Amino acid sequence: MASTVKRPVSEPRILIVGLGLIGGSLAAALRAAGFGAAKEGAAGFGAGKEPSAGFGAAKEGAAGFGAAKEPSAGFGAAQEIVACDPDPDEIRRGIEMGLIDRGDTRLAEVVEGASMIVLAVPVLAMRGVMAELASHLGSAAPDAVITDVGSTKAAIRDCALEAFGRVPPRLVLGHPIAGSEKSGVAAANPELYVNHKVILTPEPDTDPVALARVRAIWEASGAEVLEMAVERHDQVLARTSHLPHLLAFSLVDTLARQDERLEIFRYAAGGFRDFTRIAGSDPVMWRDIFIANREAVLASLDDFEAGLTRLRRAVESGDGDAMLATFDRASHARHYFESLLNKTSYQAEYQMQQQGKLRYRVSPGGSVTGRIRVPGDKSISHRSIMLGALAEGVTKVKGFLEGEDSLATLQAFREMGVAIEGPHQGRVTIHGVGMHGLKPPSGPLYVGNAGTAMRLFAGLLAGQAFDTELTGDTSLTKRPMGRVADPLRLMGAVIDTAEGGRPPLHIHGGKPLKGITYDMPMASAQVKSCLLLAGLYAEGETRVREPAPTRDHTERMLQGFGYAVHRDGDTCWLSGGGKLTAAPIDVPSDISSATFFLVAAAITPGADLVLEHVGINPTRIGVINILQLMGADLRLENEREVGGEPVADLHIRYAPLKGIDIPVEQVPLAIDEFPALFIAAANARGTTRLRGAEELRVKESDRLQAMADGLAAIGVEHRLYPDGIDIVGGGNAEGPNYGGGRIDSLEDHRIAMSFAIAALRAGDEIVIDDCANVATSFPGFIDLARRVGMALEEERAEEGA
Ligand code: S3P
Repeated sequence: MASTVKRPVSEPRILIVGLGLIGGSLAAALRAAGFGAAKEGAAGFGAGKEPSAGFGAAKEGAAGFGAAKEPSAGFGAAQEIVACDPDPDEIRRGIEMGLIDRGDTRLAEVVEGASMIVLAVPVLAMRGVMAELASHLGSAAPDAVITDVGSTKAAIRDCALEAFGRVPPRLVLGHPIAGSEKSGVAAANPELYVNHKVILTPEPDTDPVALARVRAIWEASGAEVLEMAVERHDQVLARTSHLPHLLAFSLVDTLARQDERLEIFRYAAGGFRDFTRIAGSDPVMWRDIFIANREAVLASLDDFEAGLTRLRRAVESGDGDAMLATFDRASHARHYFESLLNKTSYQAEYQMQQQGKLRYRVSPGGSVTGRIRVPGDKSISHRSIMLGALAEGVTKVKGFLEGEDSLATLQAFREMGVAIEGPHQGRVTIHGVGMHGLKPPSGPLYVGNAGTAMRLFAGLLAGQAFDTELTGDTSLTKRPMGRVADPLRLMGAVIDTAEGGRPPLHIHGGKPLKGITYDMPMASAQVKSCLLLAGLYAEGETRVREPAPTRDHTERMLQGFGYAVHRDGDTCWLSGGGKLTAAPIDVPSDISSATFFLVAAAITPGADLVLEHVGINPTRIGVINILQLMGADLRLENEREVGGEPVADLHIRYAPLKGIDIPVEQVPLAIDEFPALFIAAANARGTTRLRGAEELRVKESDRLQAMADGLAAIGVEHRLYPDGIDIVGGGNAEGPNYGGGRIDSLEDHRIAMSFAIAALRAGDEIVIDDCANVATSFPGFIDLARRVGMALEEERAEEGA
C-alpha cells in the first residue's frame, strides 16, 4: 500500500471552530506532523497562564505572533492553531493538552489573520456559525480558506448559500470518515485520521489552490483524500452510514419496547449486541444528520424496504434458494468488493492477507518422495460453476479447486443471483437458475487473474438480457480479448473493449445471437468454449473449427448435463435453445498442478512419487507424452473414469532425461505445462527445442520471455525465438545443473512454481519474487512441496525491498 506522503502545511494560522473530538483530533494530528509545535512550552500550553484571565492570556500571544507573522514555508514557530468553542472548558483543555495556542468562545476574537478556518461544529449548528463567520470574515487572512467536517454536504452547502449569498470559491466542503464513541477535546487522538478517508466535495468553481490547501492539512494528518460531488457524497453516506444507523436505532428500540422486562438485553449476544453498539451513538447528532440528509436517506430506505419485502416473501413461502442466494451474496460481499476496489486477487481479500509481495526462498537440493494429491482442475472447476448455475436443478461438485481463479467465477455467479453453498473442502452445491434465470449484477464482475473466466463469461453473458462489465487484475487487463469479442460480434453480440481489445469488457445484453461457423485462428479452448456458451443462446448452429485439438472439458460437461454437442474431425457444434439438467461433478486433480511435481521427480535422483487421481483427459496429457519422450520413468496406474473425465494415479521415478525436439502437435496439449517442462529441459542431456508455441506469449505473463530471463538468471544456456526456445540441458546425473539466483516471476503462478522446483538441482538458493498468485491455481503448493522433501520458505517482502 502506498503510504501517505505528508506534505508540509504552510498555513500561518489555522482556526478550528468547534473544539470537540473531530476538531481536537485534527489539531492533535497537525501538531504530531510538526505544525506550530516548535514553540517553547508547547506541551504545557497555557500551564502558566491564569485561567481567571479567561482566554485573555492567549491574546498576549496573539500580539506576539498574530498579524505580524509572515506566512512561513515550513513548520514551526511561525504557525499557530487557534480555536473557538462555546464551552470555555474545552478551550482550556485544548490549551493544556498543547493542541491549540489560544482560543475564545467568541468567533470575532479569534478569526483575525486566520488562513484556514475549519468548521467542526454539529451539522445543525452550521447555519448559525456560517452566518457569524460571514460577518467577521473580513478580518481573516485575505486568502482565507474555509472548510468543514460535516457528515452531510448538501445541507451545509445550503447554509453557505444563505450566509454568503453563494458558495465562496475558497469554501471547500469536506468530511473525514473517522470517529469514536468518545466525545470532547479530551478524547482528541492524533492518529484518528491515519489511513482513514476524507471526502472533499468541491464545486465546479472551487478555487483549485484552496482545494489543494485543504487536501494538504488532511494528508498531513495521515488521511487518504478523495473527491466527489456533494450529491454523490450524500447518497454514499446515506447508504453506508446513515441507513445502518437508522436500522440499528429502530431495531433496538422496537425490541426493547416489546420486551418490558428487558430480558433481551440480559441475553443479548452476537448480532443484537452489535446493533446495540451502533444504536449507542449520539442521538442528537443523528437527529441532525437525518434532518440534514433527508432525501438521500429516504431513497436508500426505499431500496432497503424493497429488499426486506423480498426476503420476507422468501421466508413466508419457505423459498430456501432465494434466502440462500441473498445470504450467500451478503456473506461474501465484503471480501468481494474489497478485492474489486483494490484490484487485488480475490483470495488475498478473502483471507484478509496482504497481497503482492510474497517471496519464495528455496534451498538447493532436496528429495521428491511420497504419495500426494494436488488440488482440483482449474478448467473443470470454472466450468462446473458456469454450467451448474445455468442448469435446472441442484449440482453437487466435489474436488472443486478453492483457488482464487475459480473462486472469482463462483463469486461472480453469486453476484448474478445464483445460490451457491460452499466451498467446504472442495464441495460446492449450486442451485441452478436455468438458462434464463441469471439476474443483472449490481456492478462490474471482477474475475481477478482468470483469463478463462473472462473469456468464457464473455460468451455466456453475450446471451443474457442484461448488460454486464467484466474486469480483472493488472495482469488480466493486459491480455487480448479481441479473440473472443470479434467472433462474438459476428454472432450479433455488442461488446466494447478497452484499447487494443483489452479488458474491461462491456457486454450489452438483449441482443439476439445467431449461430456462426468459426475457423479459430489459434488453438484455444477458451475461445472455443466461449463460442459454444454463446451458442447455447444463439439461433441455429454454432460451429467451431480448431486448428489443433484443445481441451474439451466444455463439450464433455455439456454432454454430461444433457446438452448434445457434436464433433466431426476438427469441428464441433451445437444448436441453441436447449436446456441443461443438473448432474454431479467429480473434479479430478489438475494435471497442470501435478506437472510441477512430475518434473520435480523427473529431475531429482532417487525420486519416487505417486500423484493420485489426476485428470488424464487426452487433450491435456501433452506433459506426460513429452516427459516420456525425454526418457522419464512415468507410469499411469489405476486408470478409471469419473464423471465423464478419465483419471489415473501417476507414478514417477527418477531416470536421466534427454533433450528432444518437442512434437508440434503436443504443444496445445501441454500449453500450460511449458514453464515446468523448460526446467526438465535444463536438466536433460542435450538440447530441447520448442517451436509453434507463440501462444505462450499471451498467458498470465509472456512465458517465453519470463522463463528465458529466469533461466539466464540461474545460468542455463538457451536461445529464445518468437514462437519457442532452445534450452541446453546441464545433463549431470549427480550434482547441480545450474546455479542459484533471483527470479522475477512477473506475478505469474506457473513461473513462480517452475523455478521453485528448479532449486532441486541448483547449486545455490533460488529466490523468487511476487509469488502471491500461486494461490490462483495451486493453494497449498508450499505445504505439498515440503511434504515431498523440498526446503522452501515464504517471506512477506517489504514494498520495494
Ligand atoms: C484453458 C485454456 C487454455 C489454458 C488455460 C485454461 C481453459 O488457454 O492455457 O490455462 O480452461 O479453457 P487458451 O484457450 O488461451 O489456450
